[in-house]
Amino acid sequence: MNKIPVWFDTDIGVDDAVALLVACRLEELEIVGVSAVAGNTPLPNAFRNARDVLALAGRKEIKVYPGADRPLVKELFTAEYVHGSNGLGGAEIPLSDAPIEETKAWDALYEKAKEYSGELVVCAVGPLTNIATAIFKHPDIIEHIKVLNIMGGAADGGNITPCAEFNIYVDPHAAENVMKSGIPVNLFGLDVTHKAFLDDDDIDEIVSYGNAASKLFKDSNGLLYAARERLDWSGLCEHDSCPVIYTAHPDWFVGQECGIYVETQGKLTIGKTVTDLWTDFKFEDRHCHIFLDVDRTRFAGLIKDIYRTY
Ligand code: RIB
Ligand code: CA
Repeated sequence: MNKIPVWFDTDIGVDDAVALLVACRLEELEIVGVSAVAGNTPLPNAFRNARDVLALAGRKEIKVYPGADRPLVKELFTAEYVHGSNGLGGAEIPLSDAPIEETKAWDALYEKAKEYSGELVVCAVGPLTNIATAIFKHPDIIEHIKVLNIMGGAADGGNITPCAEFNIYVDPHAAENVMKSGIPVNLFGLDVTHKAFLDDDDIDEIVSYGNAASKLFKDSNGLLYAARERLDWSGLCEHDSCPVIYTAHPDWFVGQECGIYVETQGKLTIGKTVTDLWTDFKFEDRHCHIFLDVDRTRFAGLIKDIYRTY
């Protein structure tokens, strides 16, 4: 089987860790690089967590590159209330002993995009600062990246504000530049990620495996368990696993073509992904797809099947 080359850009927090552990064991994918960006947690944590989660997955040969330690314009806004002070909900895992990469994320991504020109799929599951910086510094990268599979935004609603989803809210200027770049975008916003959850039985099963990955799952999701009780969620939404699992199983998701732009000025609406999904007025440039539904049973089943192998 020809594996799909994937670059994983992450602000590795709790659900990012699930997505990376899943990506490492999806036989359809080859993870050719990982980059860290500030978001859920400051960059040093994100960089360390990405390295350590890869080591836990037995994949410390996959290189992790440091990216942006703050958004393009706004001050950094992090999410310790969900991801804890270390980015993994307080869970402790062994430190990786892989060599420390010093090449910047945007430069490493550019080189890899040229190496896999026309084939590279980028799964971006944090603020889009690294991706925007790569496009700004290396404009011809848009000729080499096949598609950006992005966890972020929402056609309807938000989580960090009534209008904005966290990844886009943290760096709306980067998101605006990425949406306008012309690189094809598959957007996995809250519309679909709120349906991509693990329910109580799924959670209990993953924890019951008792391996290192399931221990990390158990130990890192404490704050999310509490939030779930408080906000009466259906389960634990695995936001960042959506673009990863879509890359291997696109038929499990339902999406629509649309134009997507990002609000960067509004006092109440900054970070909103504005789509022409439900309006008579359609944007002229509609090079994006936004996803609205997922086969949750197959999605959750795959995550369980993969966690069982660790
Ligand atoms: O809104 C959900 C997104 O914000 C996920 O990527 C999560 O990891 C946080 O970064
Ligand atoms: Ca994330």
